Parts: sequence; C-alpha cells; structure tokens
Amino acid sequence: MNSFLKISNIWKYYSGRPVLKDISFEVSRGEYFVVLGPTGAGKTTLLKILAGIVSPDKGEIYIDGKPMVNVPPEERGVGYFPQFFNLFNHMTVWDNVCFPLLVKGIDIVEAEKICKEMLSLMHLLDRADSYPYELSGGMRQRVALARALATGAELLLLDEPLSQLDAKLSVELREELKSIARSLGRTVVHVTNNVEEAVELADRIAVMNNGYIIQVGSYDELRRKPKNLFVEYFLSDVNVFRAYVLDPHDGLLRSSSDVCFKFRVKPLCEDASSLLRSGGEVIVCVDSDVIVLDPPSDSGWNVFDAIVEEVLFHRGGYTYILKTCCGATKIMMKVMDEMEVGIGCKVKVGFKTSDARIYDVSEYDSILYHGG
Ligand code: UTP
Ligand code: MG
Repeated sequence: MNSFLKISNIWKYYSGRPVLKDISFEVSRGEYFVVLGPTGAGKTTLLKILAGIVSPDKGEIYIDGKPMVNVPPEERGVGYFPQFFNLFNHMTVWDNVCFPLLVKGIDIVEAEKICKEMLSLMHLLDRADSYPYELSGGMRQRVALARALATGAELLLLDEPLSQLDAKLSVELREELKSIARSLGRTVVHVTNNVEEAVELADRIAVMNNGYIIQVGSYDELRRKPKNLFVEYFLSDVNVFRAYVLDPHDGLLRSSSDVCFKFRVKPLCEDASSLLRSGGEVIVCVDSDVIVLDPPSDSGWNVFDAIVEEVLFHRGGYTYILKTCCGATKIMMKVMDEMEVGIGCKVKVGFKTSDARIYDVSEYDSILYHGG
C-alpha cells in the first residue's frame, strides 16, 4: 500500500490502564478512513496522538514517510477538528477561520481567499459577521470544520465532526464532506460512533473497541467476514441468541434463557462446526433482514409462531419486534416495506438454518456495555 499515514504498535496508558493497545494501520493518500467504535473505545485518544497533542507510551507514527512521535502538533501538517472544539467567542465567524491562517504567517490576501472559499463550502458566507454565540450548534460545528479545512493540511483528523447536527443536516453534510475532501485532495481520518455515517463516508472502516482496532476493511468486507461477534453486532442489526447445543451433528440448539426456543443451524463452515460440542454453549447470530414471514416448512428452515410486539419505522424500512409464542424469545425482523400485520397479530416467521453464524460463548462479554 502507498501509505500516507502509518501507525505502528501504538500503546497508551492512563493511570496504569491501557487505553490503546498495539494499534497499527495504514491510510493511503486521498483515502477517507473512518475509525468506528462505541464510547470509551479510545477513538479520541488515538486522534489526539495523531495530532501530537498526546504522546503515546510506545509505537511509531509516520506521515508521508516521516517519523512524527517527537514532532509538535503545529509542525505535523494536520488539520485537527477536536471532539469538544472551541471557537473564539469574541471573534466573528470570518475571523475564527481567518485569524489562525494569519498566525501561521499566510499573507492577508491569500488568507482571505481561503477563508471565503471555506466559508462558502460550509454555507456560512452569509454569517461571516456573526459571533459564535449567535449561531446554532450545527453552525458552530461547521465553522470549526471550515477552520480545520482552511489549514490546507493534507491530513485531516476529524473527531465526531457531524455529531451536533440534526439528522437531516448531518446526512447532507456527510455527502458534502466526502466530496470536499476528495476535491481538495485531502486524506481524512474521521472518528465516529455512528455506523450509518461510517458506511456512507468511508473508503475503509477501522472497527475499534476497548482500546483495540479489531478489524479494518471496506463495509462489505466487514459485513461479509466479520472477525468476531463484536464487529458483527456493532455493524448491523443482528439477532443474538445464547444457546446450548443439544445435538452437534444435527446442529440442534436450545436457547439458554428460553427452554422452548429450539432451532437448527446447518450447514456451518468447518470452524463454526467445531464450536458445536454436546452440552456446550454458543452464541448464534442471525441478521434481522433474513428473517421472513411465512417461511417454507421444510427442513432447511426454522419456523416459529410469534406475536408482533412492536413496529419501528426508520430510514430504509421497518423493524418488527416479534415475541415467540412458546416462550419469551424476541426476534427482530427488518423489512423494506410495511407488512400487513400490526401489533398483536399472530404470525409465522423463520430463518434458514444456513443463515445462522456461530461464535464462542466467551465473546459474549464484548457486546455488553463497557462505556469507557
Ligand atoms: P476516549 O476519549 O479516547 O474514548 O477514551 P472515545 O472512543 O473517544 O469515546 P467517546 O465516543 O468520545 O465517548 C478512551 C479511554 O481512555 C480514558 C477514558 O476514560 C476511556 O476509558 N481516558 C481518556 C483517561 O483515562 N484519561 C484521559 O485523559 C482520557
Ligand atoms: Mg471521543
């Protein structure tokens, strides 16, 4: 890979506790790279280390082939958008963007040209004379973005840059941000905990949890071959069942919490099959969008009677929460179009025995809330 940013074996401890654990990845020139993970994963710490605001305890960082660990932030050639950014409250929007350029020694004609261009990209030219306290949270966020872009730095480090925008504006700005970065030829490391945002923006995604980068790849790669239960769980709406193995040869399992909920998982790949030991416990994942209404009643399908408990509308479709009639297991089913069954209706639902994926039960802890 023709890497523009290279991070090797970064460790960071706070009060003796590791918060970044052996982080390594490479980002190529012009790539839009998104670090995606839940709160407390270590995303901001990682970005601060790249920006030079925090020093790592171990490891190397190279930007354009040059070692960075001992280089101060202002000499790294990065534009940094902090998660908790500050604007200069006594300065107008215009000065907030222009002043840092003048401090850097850029001449005033050039600085004003850049300032105008960036404010225009962020749709803020008409608010150039406003003060930050006169703006909405989303506008302030766009001023901070304009300021980060105006540095002209080839590498942009963006920590949750869209988090304070309302849903619609956030979606609009996502598209703009990517095309702006592309047209200006910037390389971006963008941090977020929002899966949809990551999917729409990223050339590649690094999934982070508990101080580790767990897997790096395109969204398709991560979805097709998730490295572990956490990646699968974090990236998509999956049904997760803990279950005991009743018959390893036939792939027959029984939910650990609901004796009535039995299902089969077959055929499995060799690795997964080896997890099925009689009496052992496993984790089973089934995507919510492979659950179907009125499935065929042949041996390739698990079929259940269930009651519709909840119907949730969201961008891209409907999620039905179904409770199995025999016990208390809930099944989540995602569909594009609203179905003709409402809350309280009795339905038959099911999934193919081959649509289940199996993980070792020890991975279950990784999807419980850590919260940093
Ligand atoms: P981060 O602040 O890097 O996590 O803290 P994050 O992924 O960005 O989280 P969100 O999404 O913004 O909420 C990583 C870990 O480092 C600890 C935090 O408590 C957390 O466990 N930490 C961070 C410290 O102990 N000291 C610090 O100065 C900063
Ligand atoms: Mg953070």
